[in-house]
Amino acid sequence: MTKLIGISALKEAIVASDGLLLATPEYNNSIPGVFKNAIDWLSRPPADIGRVFGGKPVAVLGASPGGFGTVLSQNAWLPVLRTLGTAPWHGGRLLVSRAGSVFDEAGRLASDTTNEQLRQFIEGFIAFVRRVRDLES
Ligand SMILES: Cc1cc2nc3c(=O)[nH]c(=O)nc-3n(C[C@H](O)[C@H](O)[C@H](O)COP(=O)(O)O)c2cc1C
Repeated sequence: MTKLIGISALKEAIVASDGLLLATPEYNNSIPGVFKNAIDWLSRPPADIGRVFGGKPVAVLGASPGGFGTVLSQNAWLPVLRTLGTAPWHGGRLLVSRAGSVFDEAGRLASDTTNEQLRQFIEGFIAFVRRVRDLES
C-alpha cells in the first residue's frame, strides 16, 4: 500500500530513524529526477541538513530490468550522500538485474538467490547502524 506523506513529516521520520535505505531505480544511467527531487526538498532549508541527514547511516540498493542492476544510479548517489553529510555504508552491494524475472506478478521477490542476497545486505547494514549508534552513545 502506498502512503503519501508531506516533506515535513518525511523529514521527521528520517530524523527519528536509525538509518535510511534508498531503493533506487536507474534512469538514463543516473538517479531518476523525481527521487532526486524528493531528497532535494528534504535538504531545504539548508539549516535542516545536519539535523535530517548528518551522520545518518545510509545504504543504497536497486533493481532494474536490464543487466546492470542500477550500478550507475547507485554510483550517482554518492556525491549527494557526501554533500548531505550522511554516513554511507559501502560494506555491501545489491544490484538486482533482470528484475522482470526476479519478482512475481504481485511484485513479491520470488528468487531465492536474490532473497538471500537481500538478507545478507540488510544484515550487514543493520550491523553498521548498530556500530554507528554505539559510537554515538
Ligand atoms: C526515462 C527512463 C530511463 C531509464 N533508464 C534506465 C537505465 O539507464 N538503466 C536501467 O537499468 N533502466 C533504465 N530504465 C528502466 C527502469 O529501470 C525501469 O523502468 C524501472 O522500473 C523504473 O521504475 P519506475 O517504475 O519508477 O519508472 C529507464 C526507464 C525510464 C522510464
